[in-house]
Amino acid sequence: MTFKFSEENLKKIEEVRKKYPTNLAAVMPVIYIAQEQNGYISNEVMEEIASILDIDKVNVLSVVTFYTMYHTKQMGKYHIQVCTNVSCMLRGAYEIWDQVKEKLSLDNMGVSRDGKFSLEEVECMGACGYAPMIAVNEDFHENLTKEKVEQILESLK
Ligand code: FES
Repeated sequence: MTFKFSEENLKKIEEVRKKYPTNLAAVMPVIYIAQEQNGYISNEVMEEIASILDIDKVNVLSVVTFYTMYHTKQMGKYHIQVCTNVSCMLRGAYEIWDQVKEKLSLDNMGVSRDGKFSLEEVECMGACGYAPMIAVNEDFHENLTKEKVEQILESLK
């Protein structure tokens, strides 16, 4: 299926481009706009981003596959990222990871059948001082305990 940016997003991309010295430098925010519109970054989406920015598709692909905030398949309505990097790990991240996996019956990069939840184990998200942490879509939840995680997951049901 061909992907085209909406008129509104084309305007946003024009604004984004003005903030960067080159089109290549603007690739990350443009990918993010695409993901907001499409839900994930498919092959067609990457082609359209490359075309709009007049850059090589491999530049888009390398960014999409490097950063965990971009997805190459449709994720859940609530995409839950659990950091298990050093600071979080030292403060119990793996207990939380196991707890979330069990509660949602999902493995890494799994999506629930109803499309409501998806789960991802991630590297440091820059909230180390407030470890352990998880993110639910754009919202960070920090200084977590198993009880707090339980409350967060229950609130999403
Ligand atoms: S180690 Fe988890 S946010 Fe940095």
